[in-house]
Amino acid sequence: MKNIHSNINKAKKYLENNNVIAIPTETVYGLAANAYSSNAVKKIFNLKKRPKSNPLIVHYSNLSGLRKDCLLNNTFFKLYKKFCPGPITFVLKLKKNSKISKYVTNNSQTLAIRFPKQKILKNLLNLLNYPLAAPSANISTRLSAVRASDVKEEFGKKINYILDGGKSKVGIESTIISLTKSPKILRLGGLEVSKIEKVLKKKIKIDINPSKKVAPGQSKLHYSPGIPIRMKVTKPKKNEAYILLKKRRIYSPHYYYLTQNNNLKEAAKNLYSCLRKIKNKKYKSIAIEKISNIGLGKSINDRLSRASKY
Ligand code: TXA
Ligand code: MG
Repeated sequence: MKNIHSNINKAKKYLENNNVIAIPTETVYGLAANAYSSNAVKKIFNLKKRPKSNPLIVHYSNLSGLRKDCLLNNTFFKLYKKFCPGPITFVLKLKKNSKISKYVTNNSQTLAIRFPKQKILKNLLNLLNYPLAAPSANISTRLSAVRASDVKEEFGKKINYILDGGKSKVGIESTIISLTKSPKILRLGGLEVSKIEKVLKKKIKIDINPSKKVAPGQSKLHYSPGIPIRMKVTKPKKNEAYILLKKRRIYSPHYYYLTQNNNLKEAAKNLYSCLRKIKNKKYKSIAIEKISNIGLGKSINDRLSRASKY
């Protein structure tokens, strides 16, 4: 416990000096900086090799912080009550007098925000008088990080400090919903769309592949381990890593399980670490058995199909 406190204080010091640090969240690790400081936010884009046109998500610990920056509506409050803190990101209208750096939003009048659930991060946010802008802690288009060691692998010494919070519990990025007009899903993620529809009592438009990109998580190549991925495979090739969701009777050193009993929550949690492990073992290609296209299975399939555009 003592260690955690001193780590949180260290993280705070780095942030106060306009540095970028890595933070744990329940979805994936993030690269965080003071969202009110252009100086700090610019460093995120450089580190991540991210185009400046791709806006960042801002992380808050409470509503009163958010009220300073965004206009809130009824739909927001309904979803907030049910799902926050948790793996959902809202795109809202930015207030005119908000202090959010224009680099966070790429000068747009909307802001993506979320309330992370990870305890250590919540403790850190509670100590700050500014919210944290944070994209996923990986080089653009590459695999996201779900452990402190993954972040180290991505950035090496380029990152000043990694706040270690153990393995991310959800394991895939947040679901993004835009509430600036009628609700619209912009990215499938850690919260099932059906759960959101149940609260709003209506079907919600899903717009994850628009002709004009709004969220670059929508872009074709993303989440990639850098080797080809084949989906819905029943028979892997020789020496190909084979990712499975149901236990097989036969043993093979090339079999990798996301879950052994088709538990999609467990599969999501293990997705990025499994792909990273396979990549590090220098396989030339990855085969994955068919994943049911329901609930979190949809979010997993969406990521795999973008990753397979390699
Ligand atoms: O789970 C998550 O959301 C993680 C953790 C670290 O919070 N963050 C994350 O950030 O996935 P990132 O930057 O990898 O993905 C954020 C996505 C991008 O696709 C970006 O284009 C979109 O959110 N986005 C950000 N601001 C937006 C806005 N104002 N309107 C539409 N999309 C936006
Ligand atoms: Mg990302």
